[in-house]
Amino acid sequence: QQWLNKPKLLRGKKVLVTAGGTMERIDPVRYLTNDSSGKMGFAIAEAALDLGADVTVVAGRTSAAAPQGVKLIKVESAADMLQAVLEQFDDSDIVIKSAAVADYRPKQVHQQKLKKGDAQQLVLELERTTDILATLGERKTHQLLVGFAAETEQLDVYAMDKLKRKNCDYLVANDVSQDGAGFNYDTNVISIYNTNGLVEQLPLMSKRDAAERLLQILAQHG
Ligand code: CTP
Ligand code: CA
Repeated sequence: QQWLNKPKLLRGKKVLVTAGGTMERIDPVRYLTNDSSGKMGFAIAEAALDLGADVTVVAGRTSAAAPQGVKLIKVESAADMLQAVLEQFDDSDIVIKSAAVADYRPKQVHQQKLKKGDAQQLVLELERTTDILATLGERKTHQLLVGFAAETEQLDVYAMDKLKRKNCDYLVANDVSQDGAGFNYDTNVISIYNTNGLVEQLPLMSKRDAAERLLQILAQHG
């Protein structure tokens, strides 16, 4: 296979990747989630394995299968993901947060299935979740921290704003307004930023190829 001949740029490195969407419970049979498939995170995990890294994946709800050879930790909610990621953080060299984490969760989680009764309307009250990436940004010591952002407009502005606010070393912006990019596609259109600005703008390509280019850039980080 082609990758067997590639230099193992990440040999000896511990890479932590988050993938998929979180699920926020409303009651025992209902939850709030998003369209994330986990494909980008899994593509990164697979590419990192091929480059010789030791890879841990913390995955929420996904519609794709995790690559063989990673340490897979399955989680449900944003709170579970935060806990799992914090447990792995000290021991990680590169942390890539490609999961689509819920920004809000139901304020009340019902222990029994909600009954509709006579109600013609239901108002769900939501509260903010903890921002995992920002939490890691505050705590990082030696880790290279990589965030993701799915945007439909003003990619540069939002990407640089998120990178700075969350104290990331790199930020990968997904232009989800383009055909073939973002949720559930096998392809993506990404731009990679660091604290100085745009590093590389990649054309439409497979998530696997985009992942490999991203990891090459991270491996070269001085
Ligand atoms: N993220 C996170 N924890 C959250 C929300 C987001 O770790 N509670 C991470 C995502 O995994 C991603 C990055 O933050 O790496 C950006 O997520 P995004 O949804 O694009 O940004 P937000 O800061 O949530 O801003 P908004 O949704 O308003 O655009
Ligand atoms: Ca968000």
